[in-house]
Amino acid sequence: MSQRETWTSRVGFILAAVGSAVGLGNIWRFPYMSAENGGAAFLVVYLIAVALIGLPAILAEFVIGRETKKNVVDAFRNLGGPVAALIGVLGLFTGFWMLSYYSVVGGWVIQYVIGSLSGAYFADPGMYFGQVSEGTGTILFHAIFMAITIGIVAAGVEKGIEVGTKIMVPSIAILMIGMAAWAFTLDGAGAGYDYFLTADFGVIAENYQSIIPDAVGQALFSLSLGMGAMITYASYLDGDDNLLGDGISITVLNTFVGVLAGFVVFPLLFAQSIDPGSAGAGAVFVSLAQAFAELPAGGIIGFVFFLVLLIAALSSAISLLEVVVSYFVDNFDVSRPILTTGIGVMIFLLGVPSALNINTFTMFDNIASNILLPLGVTLTVIFVGWIYGGGAVAELRRGLGKNSSFGPVWLWHIRIVVFAAVLGTLALSIMTFMSA
Ligand code: PFF
Repeated sequence: MSQRETWTSRVGFILAAVGSAVGLGNIWRFPYMSAENGGAAFLVVYLIAVALIGLPAILAEFVIGRETKKNVVDAFRNLGGPVAALIGVLGLFTGFWMLSYYSVVGGWVIQYVIGSLSGAYFADPGMYFGQVSEGTGTILFHAIFMAITIGIVAAGVEKGIEVGTKIMVPSIAILMIGMAAWAFTLDGAGAGYDYFLTADFGVIAENYQSIIPDAVGQALFSLSLGMGAMITYASYLDGDDNLLGDGISITVLNTFVGVLAGFVVFPLLFAQSIDPGSAGAGAVFVSLAQAFAELPAGGIIGFVFFLVLLIAALSSAISLLEVVVSYFVDNFDVSRPILTTGIGVMIFLLGVPSALNINTFTMFDNIASNILLPLGVTLTVIFVGWIYGGGAVAELRRGLGKNSSFGPVWLWHIRIVVFAAVLGTLALSIMTFMSA
């Protein structure tokens, strides 16, 4: 079997991880979650959730990956035996499942990139979304998105993922900053900033039962936690770098892009007097398209916006596929391109029902975001807290110093705070899911 690949540099790893984290979750899901949860109030709770839950949890995945240098299933098996390996199997399954519908949205986005240039959605944004989101055309663009994803992953960790994300991530950041600056110049943008940045703590006090789990869930989703993407990426690390430093860079960059997206989306909607409260998965596409349709040169701005969304979706999709591919590359003596294509085609097929019916799509997303990911994080946290325990601290200390006191503090924080938060989120998610 050929030698396992590694990142060529620390920056390569950080950008790949940021590429995984920054995705539809930041630019599409985050603004509509904020809109559904009272704007700035959500932002505050989200930022706390990222720092207190997301960062420690990403470190937990990093240590598992770097110590074992194995795909998600074998990583858990190496550290905890056959029962622990089941957490990895859940991760594989989640990666497979999530990419099937994530790619469908990727296909929608391609159609919006094209539609911005042709002006196809200008006349009736609502109708355009209907056409884009269901039917044979949707399957076709889902196939195109999957084909690009397969192409990058098939090229390998170094030549595909690392090279790809080194181009994609800086492009996302630069284009988003440009768009946020442009949004600043819009008449009426001020109301958007007020909405996004003025926290009404009364809203948090009244709605904490939904705001807290939504914010924790969004932090986990956004950081690609709970299905082994960060374990897999960290497994390609070589050396003793400071994982805490890497974790902070990745979390900060990811949050920065999410907040930037808010600085684009809210001024844009408010400038056109579109109510962000009418959000929801599809409505974001509809209301943004409406805003672009009404603005002078809106087609060009729309093109840039959807292009950024497309790049962000791609750089995340490759991490979902890599989780699954890595398992097969590690265990079977078949070439990476063949394995990647085979797995990619199966994921494509699983996505077809979501491309044909938006209710199926929503069900796939709910199962992943509300059940599979929080379940994966909860199991990972229990595993790291109580089974891997001291080993995890030792691995973390490799880059921090042998006696760094951060290690044990982190472990106890995982055992108590992170565990309680993710278990609570999982319980509430399951209750909401059952009652839906
Ligand atoms: N973090 C991605 C986003 O915010 O869109 C979603 C995601 C990608 C979740 C990869 C999990 C994952 F493994």
